[in-house]
Amino acid sequence: MQFLNENLKIFSGSSNVALASAVCKYLEIPVGGARIEKFPDGEKVVRVEDDVRGKDCFVIQSTCRPVDEHLIELLIYLDCLRRASARRITAVIPYFGYARQDRKDEGRVPITAKLVANLITTAGADRVLAIDLHTRQLQGFFDIPVDHLTGELVLSRYFRHKKIDTLTVVSPDVGNIKIAARYASHLGGDLAIVHKKRISGSKVEAQEIIGEVKERNILMCDDIIATAGTVCSAASLAKKRGAKKIFIGATHGVFAGEALKNLAGQPIDEIVVTDTIPLTEEAKKLGCVNVLTVSSMVGEAIKRIHRDESVSSLFNSM
Ligand code: R5P
Repeated sequence: MQFLNENLKIFSGSSNVALASAVCKYLEIPVGGARIEKFPDGEKVVRVEDDVRGKDCFVIQSTCRPVDEHLIELLIYLDCLRRASARRITAVIPYFGYARQDRKDEGRVPITAKLVANLITTAGADRVLAIDLHTRQLQGFFDIPVDHLTGELVLSRYFRHKKIDTLTVVSPDVGNIKIAARYASHLGGDLAIVHKKRISGSKVEAQEIIGEVKERNILMCDDIIATAGTVCSAASLAKKRGAKKIFIGATHGVFAGEALKNLAGQPIDEIVVTDTIPLTEEAKKLGCVNVLTVSSMVGEAIKRIHRDESVSSLFNSM
């Protein structure tokens, strides 16, 4: 690719090597040379093998499971590049773990999303490139520039090609209405909203659906499927109310805890997630999970950051 020069370096953490390789393939550059090793006591060390002095460096690392290990590895990577005199370091975080711990909604609890943002900055990041940070205001937790991408681009393009008839886009909770409304307008469907009650971290109860789902095909969209409590309870309520096919689209397929067990018993026709998190072998066995790649979107954003071009205009051109 003519537009890139040798000052651009992209490194991969161990959380999502496939995505990092795909991004580098899009940009037609090799993945930066580095070794990530573990000492016998469990400590990690990152050794960057390429010369990075004066270079524009990007580290791709999702802080997915094991969350703390991947987070620490990212911090070590950033520190390593800073001490090796990189000119600018961008932490590319396709999935940002701890994003949901973003407020103090009861006494004596931490705001860990802010803590993690501080750690990333202190370790040496000059910028962050992230995808669907759960809430957009999380960008303000960083005192460095954040470029915020969304998986909605690839997901809505996929569902548009499917040409689902009699479509109702369902927001599985009130917090997701804006996203669902964007999908509905993009795909030309109606909009419905589920009123959900979270009983515990893993238990969710869909209490009511506002909008028409009877004899309709349903697309439920969310930023994240974690325990899948949210989408499962919404799907089962929609089915009880007469929905036909149920599709689910979410950027981050975390599939934690009882998620796979919960999903296996649900009337869900297809679950579409992106590769911000690698799909586990167990999740593949569900048989209805389809993974779309965000590699060209991330690659394009890296190219634009490197060339000091607008990243937001990316959303108009894709
Ligand atoms: C809620 O605010 C989010 O948008 C997701 O709906 C939620 O975090 C998903 O979690 P779970 O899959 O555990 O219900």
